[in-house]
Amino acid sequence: MYKIAVIAGDGTGPEVVAEGLKVLKAASNKFKFKYELKDFDFSGKRYLETGKLVEEKDIEELKKYSAIYLGAVGDPNVKPGIIETGVLLKLRFDLDQYINLRPVKLYNSNFCPLKDKKPEDIDFVVVRENSEGLYKGMGEFQKKGTKEEVAIQISYNTRKGVERCIRYAFEYTRKRNKKKKLTLCGKTNVLTYAWDLWQRAFNEAAKDYPDITTDYAHVDATTMWFVKNPEWFDVIVTDNMFGDIITDLGAMIQGGMGIAAGGNINPEGVSMFEPIGGSAPKYTGKNVINPLAAICAVGMLLENLSEVQAGKAVEDAVIKVASKKLKSLAAGKMGYSTSEVGDLVVENLA
Ligand code: IPM
Ligand code: MN
Repeated sequence: MYKIAVIAGDGTGPEVVAEGLKVLKAASNKFKFKYELKDFDFSGKRYLETGKLVEEKDIEELKKYSAIYLGAVGDPNVKPGIIETGVLLKLRFDLDQYINLRPVKLYNSNFCPLKDKKPEDIDFVVVRENSEGLYKGMGEFQKKGTKEEVAIQISYNTRKGVERCIRYAFEYTRKRNKKKKLTLCGKTNVLTYAWDLWQRAFNEAAKDYPDITTDYAHVDATTMWFVKNPEWFDVIVTDNMFGDIITDLGAMIQGGMGIAAGGNINPEGVSMFEPIGGSAPKYTGKNVINPLAAICAVGMLLENLSEVQAGKAVEDAVIKVASKKLKSLAAGKMGYSTSEVGDLVVENLA
């Protein structure tokens, strides 16, 4: 019996989560696994009402779950940074979800903004370090508010943190068993401390994976290749900040935020799965947002629970719906409502 914690969150979060849970239920009937759900109300809305964010006792409680399913958190009425650090990053950090796994896969050429790119050309995975780097929040103001003001933001990289991420990426590339190529995406030519460490750790780990081809690309060039030659990539490993940036571009070349899902993974603990788009306040309550990203997150969650067949079936059903039914992946232009898209995935699973 799996215990799944559900954080529907703000904006369109609850709408897309409802569709994801519909698909989870259908998958459990088909693949005969059992689960129970528990709702957690962490959100911008709750913060505005109660001042509460994620607390230590919440983290302890969540550690008892098999997985966490997250919709989206964020409210336009809360100052930027509060919900991000108090909910999303708090969960990632305190549950030590040190990998952010973001598959970039094109399901339908019609949805790709790149000319002449087909599904087989865009099929790679970004392994984003998820616990360190610039996200650590280290730094300070000096002489704040004066003309001599200095703002310092530190990228914090530990040997242990970098190495565990790189080794995860090598293992993942081997297990994925496609091109068996791992690209380190960095900035060794300018960020000479952080990327020196990353490069050394990468080269050393590579010795244990003679079956994996290794490659290096600067982050700026990586964004160029995403557009020009996305077919070159298989698995990419990078730090937290670069991973954040390149995966938004990745989402666009796979068709948009409506289809992009990610996993915040603690290989030894509790992992959390989410659509990577935000809470989309302007579409809230309209039944127009695309739930496929949230449904793909369910597929990833199932795979993480070792329900590999079920996870694959969910992805296959999404592929069918995205390639044969939807007119667009964009909110309001799909040709179907949010709940109808959920129903289509369920039909295609059966
Ligand atoms: C993401 C988001 C978050 C991040 C924000 C909301 C803190 O952009 O999951 O990519 O920067 O990691
Ligand atoms: Mn992001």
